[in-house]
Amino acid sequence: MKERLYELKQEALRRIDEAKDVKALNDVRVAYLGKKGPITEVLRGMGALPPGERPKIGALANEVREVIQQALEAKQAKLEQEEVERKLAAEAIDVTLPGRPVRLGNPHPLTRVIEEIEDLFIGMGYTVAEGPEVETDYYNFEALNLPKGHPARDMQDSFYITEEILLRTHTSPMQARTMEKHRGRGPVKIICPGKVYRRDTDDATHSHQFTQIEGLVVDRNIRMSDLKGTLREFARKLFGEGRDIRFRPSFFPFTEPSVEVDVSCFRCEGHGCSVCKGTGWIEILGAGMVHPNVLEMAGFDPKTYTGFAFGMGPERIAMLKYGIDDIRHFYQNDLRFLRQFLRV
Ligand code: DAH
Repeated sequence: MKERLYELKQEALRRIDEAKDVKALNDVRVAYLGKKGPITEVLRGMGALPPGERPKIGALANEVREVIQQALEAKQAKLEQEEVERKLAAEAIDVTLPGRPVRLGNPHPLTRVIEEIEDLFIGMGYTVAEGPEVETDYYNFEALNLPKGHPARDMQDSFYITEEILLRTHTSPMQARTMEKHRGRGPVKIICPGKVYRRDTDDATHSHQFTQIEGLVVDRNIRMSDLKGTLREFARKLFGEGRDIRFRPSFFPFTEPSVEVDVSCFRCEGHGCSVCKGTGWIEILGAGMVHPNVLEMAGFDPKTYTGFAFGMGPERIAMLKYGIDDIRHFYQNDLRFLRQFLRV
């Protein structure tokens, strides 16, 4: 019986040692110390022993039970401690880890160019005006000296909604709208950025929707030299101090005289390169002195007031400034394109 108890002790201790979790340990407890367990069995069989042996075996059995009991408790404590440690390790926060970077958004390159141009003119005392993209035939054409049937209307293929309503083909209607608000009294000094629409087939240099910035100054004694000085200042601020501009004669129905404005090439300093196509000059906008008919239709007396106007395409300016070769990049929102214009 002694051996049997000794064996049981070894066996139980081994299984306690092997128990991987509290549940396995509990199974060992039930198996060895339970009412139907082998130690109880041994004690029950003591009747068959000589009386002199009984206290010894009884004491031994109790000792074995005690050893197993203690081993169980020790293991239980160990398992619980391990569990706590595992949890702590799993939930640990390493406060020294660097944070996850948040990708910051940034203004669209076109928005940036428009804002830069706005700031530049605001600095010269202009205010920013905005107007409707769905426009009447009157403001888009007639008030700009383009009566119905005027051949110059063909220069701007239009999206008509009804016979009298269309998507504006330029920001010039804001000239007439702004002057009307001033009720014949100067000065008027505005720029007007906004979307415009034309029935063009999209390609690398054309888009059915693009943006323009219109400028208009009306006051007494406004001369062509004021226009030239203003645009030279604009070109220098936008393309660099060394720039010059030149006027080439042109035609727009709403200005007389009309000019096309070139800036000296900022890439080659005027020597001739691929950006200026060897000419040393790059066309950047259209401009002119406001036509007397336009002043008159908008309620200004052309004998008292004169004015100048200009219109430019921010896409073209951004393409020149940043070397962008396809206008469609502005509208496709490809992040690989946009991320090249992160503000630093
Ligand atoms: N509206 C013209 C266009 O879209 C651009 C323009 C030319 C605007 C001359 C003007 C101007 O104000 O004076 O082609």
